[in-house]
Amino acid sequence: MSEMRFAERMSRLGTESAFVVLARARQLEAEGREMIHLEIGEPDFSTPDNIIEAAVQALHAGATHYTPASGIREVREATARHVTRQTGSPTSPEQIVLVPGSKNILHFLLLALVEPGDEVLVPDPGYPIYSSLVSFVGAKPVSVPIREANQFRLDVEELRSLVTERTRVLVVNSPANPTGGVLTREDCEAIATLAQERDLFVLSDEIYSRIVYDGAHVSLYGIDGMAERCVLMDGLSKTWAMCGWRLGFGAMPVELAQRMDTLMINTSSCAAAFTQLAAIEAFESPESDAAVAAMVAEFSARRDLIVDGLNGIPGIRCHKPSATFYVFPNVEGTGWDERDLQRGLIEEAGVAALSGTAFGSWGRGYLRFSYANSQANLRKAVDRVAAFLATAHAQAVKPSR
Ligand SMILES: Cc1ncc(COP(=O)(O)O)c(C=O)c1O
Repeated sequence: MSEMRFAERMSRLGTESAFVVLARARQLEAEGREMIHLEIGEPDFSTPDNIIEAAVQALHAGATHYTPASGIREVREATARHVTRQTGSPTSPEQIVLVPGSKNILHFLLLALVEPGDEVLVPDPGYPIYSSLVSFVGAKPVSVPIREANQFRLDVEELRSLVTERTRVLVVNSPANPTGGVLTREDCEAIATLAQERDLFVLSDEIYSRIVYDGAHVSLYGIDGMAERCVLMDGLSKTWAMCGWRLGFGAMPVELAQRMDTLMINTSSCAAAFTQLAAIEAFESPESDAAVAAMVAEFSARRDLIVDGLNGIPGIRCHKPSATFYVFPNVEGTGWDERDLQRGLIEEAGVAALSGTAFGSWGRGYLRFSYANSQANLRKAVDRVAAFLATAHAQAVKPSR
């Protein structure tokens, strides 16, 4: 058989290295090695019982059919109320599109608005799917550097200098993966002013907006004047520990929601009916709010544990993030290249983490740890990293930068 020929666009598609590292970690486990998983961005908690129960009841009540492409009316209504409460921006059900995973919102936005050759500003380091999808649709991802020296907030003046005649869309992620960085109200207002001045459309990925420890989340979508030039991208995966349920949503201008409806008809048809109906329970039940508060409190204790632990290791400097379940320690002081250190930790120390450069070139010198794991395992992981760096063996194999 002749070799299969793939379309050129496939060469432009990236990946999430978390899945690649997870596969390697699982392979090592299958060989009998013990592994602490700090690579994957998924809460380790179970979905709250009341939400599971709502889905089971929905299934028994017949939620086994196609739904309207953008979602069941009453779920879009509940989502619109949720978005209005969370962002302060009055949002109607006609502005809501439900999708099987929030990445679809970005993909659909790019398909709907961006021409080949257009530029899209993306955070670097940032969630790798942003630049992957931008390249996939034939546009050019332009890195917006996110620096530790600026508490992992983008610098709005630098952002302004990166806007060109070809810039069409700006992707903003606060609270941010992989750094845990959070934008201030002043940052959001300055970004909104820039977007208006330069006629940019903004994708505001706020999927970590409920996993915040210090202060309140500021929604860029909620800033005055933004609703008409912004898509809010969010989903149930992180807040309610529902990654496997596959439900994301977007809030956006009605004309764009109509285009996304057509894109849904042409791709997934709709998100799963019972998953959609369970979202009402997630958004509106006090029991769900209590479950979220308990998960966030536990994440907060884990954050303190891992930040303090990492800062106690010679050569590592770890900024204390005020949101998400990620830390992004600087490892330059260890003398290790971050990719070699990631490999060394997984292969020799039984700790799966990601290199900062998996999130863009500005991630050089950093690692990302997800602390969605038990406090006992986090303690063990910190000890293993410290021991790995301290051993003569590690020194002997330490590659030069
Ligand atoms: C910043 C960010 N946005 C979006 C997503 C996608 O989440 P989902 O596809 O589960 O809605 C993730 C998942 O890791 C993420 O980190």
